[in-house]
Amino acid sequence: MKWRSIVLVLAAAVFCLGLGAGAPEQSLREAAQASGMLIGAAVRPAQLSEAAYASTLAREFNMVEPEDALKWEVVHPEPQTFDFSQADQIVDFASRHGMKVRGHTLVWHRQNPKWLTEGKYTSSELAKILEKHIKTVAAHYRGKIFAWDVVNEASDELHPGQLRSTIWRDQPGIVLAANGYAYMERCFRWAHEADPEALLFYNEGAETEVVNAKSDAIYAMVRDFRQRGVPIDGVGLQMHISNLHADVASISANIKRFTALGVQVHITEMDVSLAVDANGNASPEDLQRQADIYRQIAAACLAYRGCTAIQTWGFTDKYSWIGSHSKHTQGAALLFDRNYRAKPACGALRNELESGRR
Ligand code: XIL
Repeated sequence: MKWRSIVLVLAAAVFCLGLGAGAPEQSLREAAQASGMLIGAAVRPAQLSEAAYASTLAREFNMVEPEDALKWEVVHPEPQTFDFSQADQIVDFASRHGMKVRGHTLVWHRQNPKWLTEGKYTSSELAKILEKHIKTVAAHYRGKIFAWDVVNEASDELHPGQLRSTIWRDQPGIVLAANGYAYMERCFRWAHEADPEALLFYNEGAETEVVNAKSDAIYAMVRDFRQRGVPIDGVGLQMHISNLHADVASISANIKRFTALGVQVHITEMDVSLAVDANGNASPEDLQRQADIYRQIAAACLAYRGCTAIQTWGFTDKYSWIGSHSKHTQGAALLFDRNYRAKPACGALRNELESGRR
């Protein structure tokens, strides 16, 4: 087992890096291109000056998304100040390397600046602030960001099927809280006014990937928005997977029903976190199981034409939110190790992209 794992690790490293003897193997990016898929990664601008980071990113991916650089606390640090400098670096990198850019995120309850959360604004003041934010940011990137996560994580985690209590919904909310999804409808309409060409997504995590009460509620919202002409083009399924557990049949059924509504599905934040030792290393067996999960999720997406992008939340284990998020008990969640060597998951994903050509 051990020997087989070592062979597979080496093979995957060679394949994804395109260094095979004879005909070079394809990169993830080439494999994705051939199957009409977008393969993306969340990125941090500070790392773009690191040669291995930049070259791996440009070689293996055809899409990027700022991991934090477009969140309110970064892009809108003061009431009258917008700071696009960080996100602009990512957009420039993408344009130099022929990559698409996803925007994340215009409306969220986290990573908001204090001036906003502690400002004690009235409902109508808050609506004006949010409208200005959405329109300013979306207009700045008009023609540069092709798809936006307009609203992120609006579902309540503890009460599946209900909306989370947030500054935007009911504290005090930008419209009457009793109107349910109406606050999100306004956000999608504002974003569409600012950039009519951009694809507008609703993005969700924590258990909306499978069919359950949470995703049922989102499904009903999307169906209602589509029927009434509210501009929504897609649903993002984050896909942060832990404990090596993914109910792929249910994820697949969920992708099927959303795409059947005529919206696109993007896998937006995939990572598969593993138990790690003090050095951040996972076991070879777990790396194989992880590879299988990446392969199965890719297959579930490739099975539906409307599932058009697979994106991971970072791409190298050197920089991943999983470490600090899990107090360093989990890690090794991404496709490349800390030295930018491709892991078994990379080869598995690439093979699936190659065989899933459509
Ligand atoms: C995370 C980032 O990766 C971290 O750098 C940051 O400190 C916290 O947020 N769901 C989301 C992402 O939609 O924006 C989150 O990103 C991860 C969970």
